[in-house]
Amino acid sequence: MHSPRKSFRIGGFPGKSMPDRGANKLMVPKSLFWRRKLSAAGRKNGRITVPKIRERKGGDPIVSLTAYSAPMASILDPYVDLFIVGDSVGMVFYGMESTLGVTLEMMIGHGAAVVRGSEKACVVVDMPFGSYHESQSQAFRNAAKVMKRTGCDAVKLEGGAEMAETITFLTERGIPVMGHVGLMPQSVNSLGGYRARGRGEAEATKIISDARAVSDAGAFSIVVEGVVEPLARDITNAISVPTIGIGASAECDGQVLVTEDMVGLFNDFTPSFVKRYADLGPAIAKAAAAYGRDVKARRFPADEHCFRVKNNNS
Ligand code: KIV
Repeated sequence: MHSPRKSFRIGGFPGKSMPDRGANKLMVPKSLFWRRKLSAAGRKNGRITVPKIRERKGGDPIVSLTAYSAPMASILDPYVDLFIVGDSVGMVFYGMESTLGVTLEMMIGHGAAVVRGSEKACVVVDMPFGSYHESQSQAFRNAAKVMKRTGCDAVKLEGGAEMAETITFLTERGIPVMGHVGLMPQSVNSLGGYRARGRGEAEATKIISDARAVSDAGAFSIVVEGVVEPLARDITNAISVPTIGIGASAECDGQVLVTEDMVGLFNDFTPSFVKRYADLGPAIAKAAAAYGRDVKARRFPADEHCFRVKNNNS
């Protein structure tokens, strides 16, 4: 019999009512889970593929959220088409000031966790700052490492026309690439902050031509971040692959939000384009306070939380 601690729980936690994902499937030994996911030809059965995301251009809007951990991926998986394991993990999860300090090893760890925790959504992992800018071969070497070690479906990288040749180099060698234009957090120092992009005509024209270059280079979709509304529409109309907007209006082929922003688990800064669908921070604080009171009053652990010596005769 395997220990529950060695299992990965899909779709919920004991005692909680969960979405209709099959409560019977709750405990799956991790080893079997992996075998099932990487079965036969090594293809992940049932997962939404990169070509399927690409086909959604102009169609049913693509629902995307960020995820950094297996439990969060498991909870969100039934409701999203696409996970972006964003380098926003640096700020949201590690408390960094920007995304610049995020390393390839961090992205690999979080990417692998999200792949393990999900079975339906397409998983895209961010290439961190400095891991793809030096040369096409550096980009390929690091993107291949991310793909091999996480089992993800694609990588994402920031940049416009200047990244086009790198994107072609990767896509022609079997690495699907998602682009990212507009507000590019890895360029915060060059852009001079996180302000919305495309207010002036020259800047707007440059962002459209960047999106075209990235799309023509072979990206299967493009994140459009922090741009003024008419620009998101112009970009979406100008390119043949889906645009995934974040702070870019509903005129995109899909939307992504940072999950912790959406559920109130990250309060350092909430951009104005975020809609809060839940406020989990206070609920967690309340739970921690109740736990603290119980520990101090010796109400926890109670009898039912204690191991008992087994009676040998039973
Ligand atoms: O790092 C991140 O979270 C992103 C989002 C725009 C998806 O790139």
